[in-house]
Amino acid sequence: MSNAQNLAYAVVQVLHNFGAVATVGGSLAATRIEDVGARKKLAWLVLIGWGTQAVSGAAFGLVSFLYYHKFPDIAGVAFAALAIKILCAALGFMLVAVYLLRGANWPAKNQGRVWPSSAMLAAIALSAAAFLRWFS
Ligand code: HEM
Repeated sequence: MSNAQNLAYAVVQVLHNFGAVATVGGSLAATRIEDVGARKKLAWLVLIGWGTQAVSGAAFGLVSFLYYHKFPDIAGVAFAALAIKILCAALGFMLVAVYLLRGANWPAKNQGRVWPSSAMLAAIALSAAAFLRWFS
């Protein structure tokens, strides 16, 4: 691999790692915060985190495509792990986006369910990442 290609993967990985921290850490932190304003700010951070994961995840594939003119050939466990990650990112992003758009009108109990759900999706994606890494 050339240095340019390594650099491209490393830059994407930096974004992907910080995105992962934002989804896991932000969602967990939000479960502990009562203040509505502070929770909303954290919700934006988590939303950006989920979006970053989708964009940087796709960027991994794009870098491979630019250098090899094809996408990585993955199958079996690695493919399942990638599909799980994509599903988690899509659900997490939609959940937090709907919360930011409409959540203020929801009963407190339902608002409170957003963060354990987002944290669970982030934890599943983070675990799937290990399987993607070692089965591909
Ligand atoms: C659309 C969603 C996503 C896509 C397309 C995606 C794609 C990828 C790809 C292609 C890699 C490199 C795999 C390798 O090195 O073989 C990767 C690594 C990684 N992803 Fe994702 N990802 C997504 C979402 C997530 C989410 C939501 C998280 C965590 C919350 C996450 C955490 C990680 C971590 C920690 C790594 C590094 C694994 C390692 O090298 O040990 N990803 N991801």
